Amino acid sequence: MTESAPKPDPKNVLDLLFAFRLSKTMFDAVSLGVFDALAERPQSAPSLAERLEVNSDALERLLDACVGLKLLAKNGADYTNTPEASVYLCSQSPDRMTGYINYSNDVMWSMWANLKDAVREGTNRWKQTYGLDGPLFSSFYRTEEALREFLMGMHGFGQISSPHVVSAFDLARFKHLVDLGGGTGHLAIAACRQYPGLTATVYDLPEALPLARQIAAASPVADRIRFEGGDFFQDPLPQADLFSLGRILHDWTEAKIVRLLSRVYERLPSGGGLLIAEKLLDDDKSGPSWAQMQSLNMLVCTEGKERTLGEYTELLQKVGFRNVRGSRNPSPLDAVLALKP
Ligand SMILES: C[S@@+](CC[C@H](N)C(=O)[O-])C[C@H]1O[C@@H](n2cnc3c(N)ncnc32)[C@H](O)[C@@H]1O
Repeated sequence: MTESAPKPDPKNVLDLLFAFRLSKTMFDAVSLGVFDALAERPQSAPSLAERLEVNSDALERLLDACVGLKLLAKNGADYTNTPEASVYLCSQSPDRMTGYINYSNDVMWSMWANLKDAVREGTNRWKQTYGLDGPLFSSFYRTEEALREFLMGMHGFGQISSPHVVSAFDLARFKHLVDLGGGTGHLAIAACRQYPGLTATVYDLPEALPLARQIAAASPVADRIRFEGGDFFQDPLPQADLFSLGRILHDWTEAKIVRLLSRVYERLPSGGGLLIAEKLLDDDKSGPSWAQMQSLNMLVCTEGKERTLGEYTELLQKVGFRNVRGSRNPSPLDAVLALKP
């Protein structure tokens, strides 16, 4: 570029330079309990500092930064939660995202610090970051607390996305849904709420089921949801005319995906369906940014990646599925429906 050529606007680069500071401010405000304490009553920085046992001047800077991020509002000397902080950042809220935030702060932050090595070697960073070398989900679930934080993280996003996913296609003709790797059961709950004639089974590793039972029990469709523990790569799958896989395929290699899809295909009756919830990459992978970032996240912590609708279609057709349709949603997840002829 010559001396006289106008320089490009640096805004994008500056925004990206600062982006990690914004995330970390929210993560640590959640982790310190700022939003939970302010949910009890608005408080000044000195009063909150005493309650949280932190440095008052430093806390004031954190609180002011949260005001700038629209997570807090300030009335005189008192800070108070904004509506979005009350709904998403307080640990007692049914729509909390605090599980995913805490997981991002406590686990993923350190894994992402090794992104460069993940790109060099093309593998996840569990061993490098935490010395963990076992099956993938034994790393995610290495302690009871890690299991809960991870699944509640999935739950926060699921609460937002599952109502869109289950209404992306008309599923009213199906009688029994089995949600494989169903986590907390948010997709099964959303499906039963949307389709009054549907019953569902949440199928997951046995250690994940107690949380699913607890969450489903509090839902208005508790009497239509069952639970079954097992390994979807090996154990017999429950009977269903509709299976779902929500954020499962993006965890695994293509060989494992083909194995899992074949097992689902074999178990379905003719006319049965498979509903997939994933964020779809554009055909040329130039966006959306959310899916691209998620694909890097998958590189850092799984064996998988995000894919285009064309790539999912190819995998589904390989095992026999036909009529593959995709539906892009404004929510964090898109939907794909495939049928067994
Ligand atoms: C990324 S989470 C997605 C959870 C849920 N579908 C959602 O969207 O919130 C992956 C889920 O797959 C489950 N899972 C992993 N390996 C499994 C296996 N071999 N058999 C059954 N479930 C498995 C995990 O316990 C976890 O609940």
